[in-house]
Amino acid sequence: MKITPIKQDDIFDYRADFPILSNTMNDKPMAYLDSASSAQKPQAVLDSLKNLYETHYANIHRGLYQFSQETTLAFESVRSKVADFINAPGAEDVIFTRNSTEAINLVAQSWGATNLTAEDEIILTEMEHHANIVPWQMLSEEIGFKIKTIPVTDTGELDFDAFLKLLTPNTKFLSMVHISNALGTINPVEKFVTAAKDFYREIKVLIDGSQSVVHGTVDVQSIGCDFFCFTGHKLYGPNGVGVLWVRRDILANMPPYQGGGDMIETVSFIDGTTYKSGAARFEAGTPAIAEVIALGAAIDYLRTIGMDKIAAHEKRLLDIMMRDLSAVEGLTFYGTAQAKAGVVSFTAEWAHASDIAMILDQQGVAVRTGHHCCMPLMARFGVDATVRASLGLYSNEADIQALVRGLKKAKEMLD
Ligand code: ALA
Repeated sequence: MKITPIKQDDIFDYRADFPILSNTMNDKPMAYLDSASSAQKPQAVLDSLKNLYETHYANIHRGLYQFSQETTLAFESVRSKVADFINAPGAEDVIFTRNSTEAINLVAQSWGATNLTAEDEIILTEMEHHANIVPWQMLSEEIGFKIKTIPVTDTGELDFDAFLKLLTPNTKFLSMVHISNALGTINPVEKFVTAAKDFYREIKVLIDGSQSVVHGTVDVQSIGCDFFCFTGHKLYGPNGVGVLWVRRDILANMPPYQGGGDMIETVSFIDGTTYKSGAARFEAGTPAIAEVIALGAAIDYLRTIGMDKIAAHEKRLLDIMMRDLSAVEGLTFYGTAQAKAGVVSFTAEWAHASDIAMILDQQGVAVRTGHHCCMPLMARFGVDATVRASLGLYSNEADIQALVRGLKKAKEMLD
């Protein structure tokens, strides 16, 4: 994961590309600090959705007429864009899902259900999102394999030595988040993948890249993982579309996840059904056509700016945010790793996170509060909720100042 702080010698300001940011919230200029939850959409994505429906929308893979052919081409071209974006070896191994959650459920129900046995062990981390915990717990209830977890240190990093001790001859699978949505920690996933594969090369590894594709350049080949997933709506694209990349030799042996149209070769009541190969086997039914195409527009947009520039901009703002928040009395921060993306989680000794969020809302500041779908992580830190401020490429110093002002006001009112 490349996040090198570089000197920002030109002005980095793409706010004008995001129409929603000129709106007010509670009659205040909106300071949107909830991009880790879902990012706002640039005009290019909005135009893509509108343009498709206004000019050549049709179902894909099914029509011989011009609109269907054009829409099919536009849809399929996004597979190559995604493959390039994460440096996957080929577009044919890129599966479109609804989101990361569906991608992980697909891996669990297809690869997991056919490859894991009661004797096996899988390893997750204590900082996983529920999307990378619950599908494995559900499968474990059926199959009986054991789930182990890599502990998190006080700075919000994964304990690598503890991980090494979890590996046994029964370990079959490791699934871990690349960047924590709750802490911002950038996990050195290459190091974990290498250690797992050095221990036993047949251990398969899934990386949840929901936050990492957003904050820097990702290369699935250099990570060395077998599965990688992310979701479109955090990547400035629309809701309802996600991506799962699977290493080709593994994909070839995975049974279908859902059955239906477009994933079959032949269907017969007499001879049964045969399935397509590759990604198509996992895309039953009409997919999120316009959303996939608009995800392509989001990727084009991001690549025009440059992921390294986005990462550098966010790193600069993160440093400012940490500095300025440290001046607010009584805050405790969770996730203070050196390798950290633009996500800051904290509690205040003078008020509960939800009360703070309500006052911030009145000041036009949007943050997320709660457990961030990471209840085991919250339990690790002994809290039930944090306030989380997260940055996007459109964030600026004014957003941070609004947050700091809002917090000072909240302190005055609640302390
Ligand atoms: N996973 C999203 C978040 O972290 C929803 O807020």
